[in-house]
Amino acid sequence: MTQTTTPRDILVTSALPYANGPIHLGHLLEYIQTDIWVRYQKMRGENCVYVCADDAHGTAIMLRAEREGISSEALIERISQEHQEDFSGFLINFDNYHSTHSPENRELASTIYNALKDNGHIATRTITQSYDPEKQMFLADRFIKGTCPKCKTEDQYGDNCEACGATYTPAELIEPRSAVSGATPEERDSEHYFFRLPEFADFLQNWTRSGTLQPQVANKLSEWLEAGLQEWDISRDAPYFGFEIPDAPGKYFYVWLDAPIGYLASFKNLCDRRDDLDFDHFWKPGSDAEVYHFIGKDIINFHALFWPAMLHSAGFRTPSAVYAHGFITVNGQKMSKSRGTFIMAKTYLDHLNPEYLRYYFASKLTGSVDDMDLNLDDFTQKVNSDLIGKVVNIAARSAGFITKKFDGRLGQVTETDKLQSFIDAGDEIAGHYENREFGRAMRRIMELSDEANQYVHDERPWERIKDPEQADQVQAISTNALNMFRLIMTYLAPVLPKTAKAAEAFLDAPLDWNGRATLLEDHPINKFKPLMQRIESSQIDRMLEASKDALPAATGQPSKTAEDSHMEPIAEQIEFPDFAKVDLRVAKIVSAEHVEGADKLLRLVLDIGDEQRQVFAGIKSAYAPEALEGRLTVMVANLKPRKMKFGVSEGMVLAAGPGGEDIQILSPDAGAEPGMRIM
Ligand code: 2FM
Ligand code: ZN
Repeated sequence: MTQTTTPRDILVTSALPYANGPIHLGHLLEYIQTDIWVRYQKMRGENCVYVCADDAHGTAIMLRAEREGISSEALIERISQEHQEDFSGFLINFDNYHSTHSPENRELASTIYNALKDNGHIATRTITQSYDPEKQMFLADRFIKGTCPKCKTEDQYGDNCEACGATYTPAELIEPRSAVSGATPEERDSEHYFFRLPEFADFLQNWTRSGTLQPQVANKLSEWLEAGLQEWDISRDAPYFGFEIPDAPGKYFYVWLDAPIGYLASFKNLCDRRDDLDFDHFWKPGSDAEVYHFIGKDIINFHALFWPAMLHSAGFRTPSAVYAHGFITVNGQKMSKSRGTFIMAKTYLDHLNPEYLRYYFASKLTGSVDDMDLNLDDFTQKVNSDLIGKVVNIAARSAGFITKKFDGRLGQVTETDKLQSFIDAGDEIAGHYENREFGRAMRRIMELSDEANQYVHDERPWERIKDPEQADQVQAISTNALNMFRLIMTYLAPVLPKTAKAAEAFLDAPLDWNGRATLLEDHPINKFKPLMQRIESSQIDRMLEASKDALPAATGQPSKTAEDSHMEPIAEQIEFPDFAKVDLRVAKIVSAEHVEGADKLLRLVLDIGDEQRQVFAGIKSAYAPEALEGRLTVMVANLKPRKMKFGVSEGMVLAAGPGGEDIQILSPDAGAEPGMRIM
């Protein structure tokens, strides 16, 4: 069963992660999904290439670098290294990992922009926008805060209220202020560049109905198209970390303009190093090469409206398909730092084997955009029972006989029909992989594993081995079983690449999908070593505990989870006496200063009437120390002192928000005095 047709040329991408925060489990769903699909294609002999890059531009990255006192370039370099370590830890096998802040991307962005302009698809007009006079920069809605005009909740973002859900413009906010400097924003005019998307309405109508999108996504797109398209603002004023627009000094491409072009740039960078890849062959209109973008459902508009329209106008081919996936929840709820379920890639890897997660995601993935729950009990149970209890067990219970009794040599296969059915199942499983129905593929593979175990169970080699006359049968049973194991591992290899390698070493034979009809007979194998360990629930507990400490810096950008809504569910009810034990006091911040060697902490001295307290608060990313001095806040005054690396913390300041720059310390209303008890 070797492949006779010409290999398909396939270019695959995953969304480019923002270079301002760490990779977490929400991201990993996508990279694991894509990596499995790519590994499958490669195993089938297709000419499949997987590229990605860091999405390195934008205001959030610029401001974070500034806060850290480093250049944007240094920040994105560091984050790119961290991302790549995380990806390699999860066995994500990119053919190239690049950056949108690269010469290739600058060049391609300008080529595409110039083409759009020459085709009359760029418009310019003056718009009025909020401006921070202190920081001397225009402010996106997200960087303005104030009181909600509708429900009067303070400290709401410039576009919507998290308390009442109202949407509004920053100008409607009561007492708006810049989240960057605290200054009161002004309105200023500026000329902006727009991509004339409405001109592509007919093209997009056809494109979205041509099988390029999942049905649910195509329906959503139809709604948007019916509602009418808007021109897309693709420029931002300096200061901005990005590429300056050709012929427009002081104007920069909006990060989302050059982000998808980063797919081309990363591929171009790879083509320049590989003789077998031709950029134009993949990207010219009418090419028979295939291009697939795997993305999250939150960024469909960028990939299924702006991106195909831009490519079309600029004379490139459009993607063969865009595959969107849903979000993940953990234990049925959105990921949460306080529950320890906002799990960073690195924290996971400190405690658990990446293949567990790859398998669990695979077992639940479908071709649709449905959300997925990572239930940690189910995860433990499924991995232990499927991978260790079923798959590894087939080899574990057969290998010993071959090693000890038959000099490490397999005999002849006797269950030809059964093995033929295992070989045939490969076609069905292949279809599931191709359609991204990984859950179906895993279920079929587990059926085969059950069958293999049942076979060994029924044949009872451990009893037969006691009878010297049945030795040949035992060798044949083990040979049959190990061939079944080999086929199963072949089908699992896209999901479990590391275990697949170990299985190849043990069997001293490749796991070759297309050549799988050739069975192993009269073949030496190596001593069996346990291929995978069971998950212990204590490992999960430790990971959750560690995740509570590992707060990611707030990204200020859309994330792949619902975490950004900042809303935690209400905790368990408590009795009044329990609450009354907490002694909350109004405190005046007498002084605030940076702490040497601490990334997140400020050292505060608080006046609570009769005494002063030293408190270390994790609010460094949100406040400049000077901005805090003299301010009133609320503290827990009877918290047992805690010895920290930097000194003793004698209490705790109350603050709201998810952490990082998005944290706000609480303040009492005017008239409060230091030391007042709060009830
Ligand atoms: O949503 C995100 O995380 C973006 N950084 C994805 C960019 S994908 C592509 F268009 F570059
Ligand atoms: Zn409101």
